[in-house]
Amino acid sequence: MATINVNGARREVQAPDDTPLLYVLRNDLELVGPQFGCGLAQCGACAVLVDGKEVRSCVTPVASVAGQEITTLEGLPARWAKLKGLTAEQARNTLHPVQQAWIEEQTPQCGFCQNGMMIKATELLEKNSNPTVDQIKQAFTSSGPSPNLCRCGTYVAIIEAVQHAATIMAKGR
Ligand code: FES
Ligand code: FES
Repeated sequence: MATINVNGARREVQAPDDTPLLYVLRNDLELVGPQFGCGLAQCGACAVLVDGKEVRSCVTPVASVAGQEITTLEGLPARWAKLKGLTAEQARNTLHPVQQAWIEEQTPQCGFCQNGMMIKATELLEKNSNPTVDQIKQAFTSSGPSPNLCRCGTYVAIIEAVQHAATIMAKGR
């Protein structure tokens, strides 16, 4: 059995220590934002934040993240609400600026990779609130175990969405 902290809640799961975190999130906790793409840390579709860092959950043993703060796509609104000190009522009606920007820019095509893109964008913007285009490209291509891959080729739209998210964050909405 493993005890993990996901989206602010302590969860106990019946899984061997070496079970990939992705399987636990999707199959045991019904958090289906993270996707199974390659299963080899080579695409980014399965990404989650662990203590604020983008991690490929397909190759992360569940026991290795016990005691750390795991945030999935589903937890981004609460993460933003906590950062901004919003009330519980306000938090219920809030999207993370990254999610808001992705909607307003209509970034996804098929959508399969976009979980990882939004997690990577969140990691970047929490460290650098106003990244340049080069810094955005660097984050998505060189900061993780592999570039974040999109088979539909939404890369330009992703750069624009990150810039839009930065604007929303700066306004604090
Ligand atoms: S599914 Fe984990 S990186 Fe591709
Ligand atoms: S939107 Fe289809 S793989 Fe990226």
